[in-house]
Amino acid sequence: MPRRPLLLLAAALAAATAMAFTSGHSATQTLGDTIVVAWNDLGMHCMNQTHATLSILPPFNNLMAQVIRRGDATHAPQLITQGVTVGYSVPGNTTSVTKTDFWAWAPSLFGVTLAPDVGLTGKSLSGSMDVSGAHFAAVGIPVTPWPDSDLVHEHPYQQALVVARDAQGLEIARSTPTIPVSTEINCGASGCHRSEQAILNSHPRVTGFDPNAKPVLCAKCHADPALGTTGKPEAGYFSLKMHDQHQFMDQTMSGTNECYMCHPGPKTQCLRGAMNQLHGQQCQNCHGNMAAMARGIENGRIPWVQEPSCASCHTAAYAENPNTLFKLSTGHGGVMCEGCHNSTHADVPSRQPEDNANNIALQGHAGPLGDCKVCHGVIPAGAGPHGITTAGVGDELLRGTTALHVSPDPMRSACTITLPRLGEGGGRLLVYDMQGRIVRMLEPAQGHGARVATWDARGRGGERVLPGIYFMLWQQAGKRAASRVTVLR
Ligand code: HEC
Ligand code: HEC
Ligand code: HEC
Ligand code: HEC
Ligand code: HEC
Ligand code: HEC
Repeated sequence: MPRRPLLLLAAALAAATAMAFTSGHSATQTLGDTIVVAWNDLGMHCMNQTHATLSILPPFNNLMAQVIRRGDATHAPQLITQGVTVGYSVPGNTTSVTKTDFWAWAPSLFGVTLAPDVGLTGKSLSGSMDVSGAHFAAVGIPVTPWPDSDLVHEHPYQQALVVARDAQGLEIARSTPTIPVSTEINCGASGCHRSEQAILNSHPRVTGFDPNAKPVLCAKCHADPALGTTGKPEAGYFSLKMHDQHQFMDQTMSGTNECYMCHPGPKTQCLRGAMNQLHGQQCQNCHGNMAAMARGIENGRIPWVQEPSCASCHTAAYAENPNTLFKLSTGHGGVMCEGCHNSTHADVPSRQPEDNANNIALQGHAGPLGDCKVCHGVIPAGAGPHGITTAGVGDELLRGTTALHVSPDPMRSACTITLPRLGEGGGRLLVYDMQGRIVRMLEPAQGHGARVATWDARGRGGERVLPGIYFMLWQQAGKRAASRVTVLR
């Protein structure tokens, strides 16, 4: 049974609350000798408000942080975990037990009796973070979307307060990460299911399933790595059953609207990061549609453990650590990817000001942390984040691929690319510059046989790209074809 929640559950949604305590952090603030970067690992976390009938997810949020002693002209910056403690709280949100009936049902659902406001891992709404390698983590914070001052409206994007203290207990640095949570799971609110009881009544009458023995924890039988349950083999992964059973939605819906039927949601709009807001990426661009989600698991993908990677579109200079999720990967100087970028779905610059607060306080703008002085105190000689060496980008992209036909090459205003049929389904054509940055992503319409795409030598914003060498990668059904092209002035 459950009891081994992985770091997976938390994540993100937020509301315009709690700006009060960020106002002390302006871009002009003088940084001390130490900085703390803090974030929520998933970018969104769903929870059920009521657990009396069925339970999909409990309140369970995760905060992560890294403390960095700033460098100077003679010292490199240093990630520290010794001689420092890190505490967290959610200002204006001090209790959960009056806001959800989770505590009443935890004994029957999870076999544990929890003290009020204490979550499944023993964490409360405030407390201290634990050292884990080179970072700090508070896993399983039972926060709800209702601040004490508003028990009526959900505030999915509240801000937590993370404070680092020295051995004497004096504050040395603080950060205000989003602690996102939403109840927009919507089985009923979507107008699809009459009630939670109706869902139980229509569930197959398999051995051990009694629609009247409530509450029902779906993950008890359906394996769910997010909750650490292994389930019953005959029931299959929860993620598989949910996406498979509802794949009819693919026929009538697409884009975020489809996934927002169950993931939060029409109000919460959890996908809010730069990849979506600036570059139009939808859930399906990275995860595939409902059918693809289900087929992937049937073909061996472990839900929650194997997820899309940045490297499937970006190049190796921007890749996660081998076989490691984005949220667990580290980059430049041992700083975690999310320490500079924030979580997936909420990658900075984000639509929600709460997500951007940390980076604005540290470097004056909301993009990924790139200002060397924030951590080094100076601008060091040598390569910074992604230390990209232009040599090798082309080698990497072209290696082991069949050649794409591009004409004309060199080109001035447009070129035509012949796209071979590498497998079933749609594909994407990515255009990279010499630094390995994606300049443009083109998605030709689905069809049969060879297709063509046209690139007008422009980036997504419509701006003309600089003259130089570009690389094109056609990805379809896990196969690749690539080529280079020169753009003239
Ligand atoms: C007592 C164990 C058990 C529990 C609890 C349970 N399931 Fe199932 N569920 C099964 C089994 C076994 C199957 C059948 C698998 C099969 O034959 O495809 C199944 C099938 C399903 C299917 C596919 C439906 C179909 O008609 O094939 C869905 C969707 C599903 N479950 C969702 C849920 C949800 C949502 C919950 C929580 C409210 C839940 N299950 C709780 C055991 C369980
Ligand atoms: C009918 C409801 C429903 C819809 C619609 C839905 N999901 Fe889900 N999804 C769920 C549930 C429930 C879970 C949690 C399963 C668990 O806890 O293991 C989940 C989990 C996931 C996960 C994490 C588990 C995994 O398989 O890695 C991903 C990723 C995901 N959904 C993507 C999507 C995408 C993309 C879409 C839109 C194409 C979508 N979902 C639409 C219900 C849905
Ligand atoms: C730009 C690509 C991208 C888009 C767009 C995207 N995701 Fe994800 N998603 C990811 C990546 C990457 C991960 C794995 C994060 C990690 O490794 O820590 C992930 C993980 C998840 C998970 C598992 C929990 C987690 O955060 O690790 C869920 C659930 C999920 N996505 C749902 C969605 C839904 C629903 C949408 C649309 C509303 C969506 N995603 C849009 C890239 C994307
Ligand atoms: C489905 C393909 C895909 C995946 C997966 C993907 N990206 Fe992107 N990314 C793009 C595209 C396309 C662009 C924009 C290029 C353009 O249009 O200018 C982009 C742009 C960006 C940018 C520049 C944002 C800005 O401010 O302009 C960042 C940062 C970024 N991605 C980070 C990530 C991270 C981090 C991940 C993994 C968590 C990731 N991407 C996964 C396709 C992808
Ligand atoms: C978010 C914090 C952070 C930012 C921003 C950052 N660095 Fe670093 N950097 C580190 C850390 C931590 C180390 C590891 C120092 C060590 O343990 O050796 C490091 C190491 C380095 C090193 C090797 C060690 C040294 O100091 O010679 C170089 C070179 C470097 N960074 C350059 C840069 C440059 C250039 C930039 C700006 C473009 C930059 N860094 C931005 C945190 C950062
Ligand atoms: C020290 C801060 C820092 C860390 C740590 C960091 N990044 Fe970045 N990242 C940046 C900055 C700054 C940019 C924008 C400048 C650029 O494109 O080189 C960026 C850009 C990106 C892009 C977009 C590239 C494009 O096409 O525009 C991706 C993808 C990315 N990072 C992925 C990652 C991954 C994966 C990790 C962890 C393995 C990571 N980053 C760790 C600072 C960081």
